[in-house]
Amino acid sequence: MIVAIPKESFDGERRVALTPQRVASLRQAGLEVHLESAAGVAAGFPDSQYQQQGVAIVADRTKLLAAADVILQVRTLGANPQAGLADLAFYKPGVVLIGFAEPLTERAAVEALAQSAATLLAMELIPRISRAQNMDALSSMANLAGYKAVLLAAENLPKIFPMMVTAAGTITAAKVLVIGAGVAGLQAIATARRLGAVVSAYDVRPAVKEQVQSLGAKFVELPLETGAAQTAGGYAQEQSAQQQRRQRELMIRVVGESDVVITTAAVPGKKAPVLITSEMLQAMAPGSIVVDLAASRGGNCDLTRPDQTICAYGVRIFGPTNLPATLALHASQLYANNVANLLLHLIKDKLMVINTDDPITREILVCRAGRVVHPVVREALGIAG
Ligand code: NAI
Repeated sequence: MIVAIPKESFDGERRVALTPQRVASLRQAGLEVHLESAAGVAAGFPDSQYQQQGVAIVADRTKLLAAADVILQVRTLGANPQAGLADLAFYKPGVVLIGFAEPLTERAAVEALAQSAATLLAMELIPRISRAQNMDALSSMANLAGYKAVLLAAENLPKIFPMMVTAAGTITAAKVLVIGAGVAGLQAIATARRLGAVVSAYDVRPAVKEQVQSLGAKFVELPLETGAAQTAGGYAQEQSAQQQRRQRELMIRVVGESDVVITTAAVPGKKAPVLITSEMLQAMAPGSIVVDLAASRGGNCDLTRPDQTICAYGVRIFGPTNLPATLALHASQLYANNVANLLLHLIKDKLMVINTDDPITREILVCRAGRVVHPVVREALGIAG
């Protein structure tokens, strides 16, 4: 079986889906690995490193795609809706595509892949269960994004993060507020703490309070009736409009006291809740920074624009949508581990086995044999029948 790794074609994407270090494990499982020439260069992995591991380097992308039984990507069509279309015509019928695919929102892409008879396994849908932890690419990437969001804020804040006692006077520590203490938020808390900031965090799930506190941050408690804020799968549940309004009222004071706000609150497949309003920005001191990690889902701040920096009331709002690509080497290393672990889970006797009795396979299988088969994806995209 041939496993191919094309060069990522999404604008600004520097990651690669497989690193040279993970090639050996795939070859031991009896797989032949092909790589599009220069696919790893932007992440720091030249072709020669792959060649040393026995990878065949292919210069012609269309030939690479046409020969592949399995294609590993960071961004398959749904997560690369424009440039990704160019590849469709070259897939072998029945090819298995593994990568991020935005399956809950990108209907046209999901349907196009189904029509091309590809089997799509979406990395976003890896269940958050212990058995699949080493395949959880969303968490790997969110972890890096949480780290980088803090560096972005620190770089742009006209203050330092730590308290400093100097002969010229004492500087107080910066105050950082993290909203959404999931994977990205917890890493943002840890990073801001390492830089010496005074950190608070808020989340609708009271269950994260202990984790926040164990990182040395204060957990902000809003007197809100949250109900069941968490699904059985460990993700946040969408809040009612009334809950969201009340939350915003209570947040004005907390946000106003912060030099930096990092927002990470998202519910998969849904528009991100607006948590930071103009009123809150006005309460912040001039020079303050908001880094909105939910920018690609509409943003947690109503002024956020994807991949832009907006200045309002003296506050700068950053809406980066692809921070992991700015840490391409480590992001690729983690992603490659996640994807290779998944692939090895699916390979039996050198062949790919799509067994829907296996909970991991069932959760990530979006398209197969010309159909969109995932019930949650069908419902989210409004695909009937
Ligand atoms: P997660 O699902 O682990 O965490 C999200 C957290 O937000 C949860 O703890 C949830 O309870 C909380 N939350 C949801 N609604 C909330 C509300 N109304 N108020 C307060 N908290 C709320 O997600 P993860 O893995 O931490 O990712 C966080 C976000 O970062 C996601 O939107 C993800 O798409 C984004 N992300 C952005 C990247 C970038 O480059 N901009 C890269 C990677 C992830």
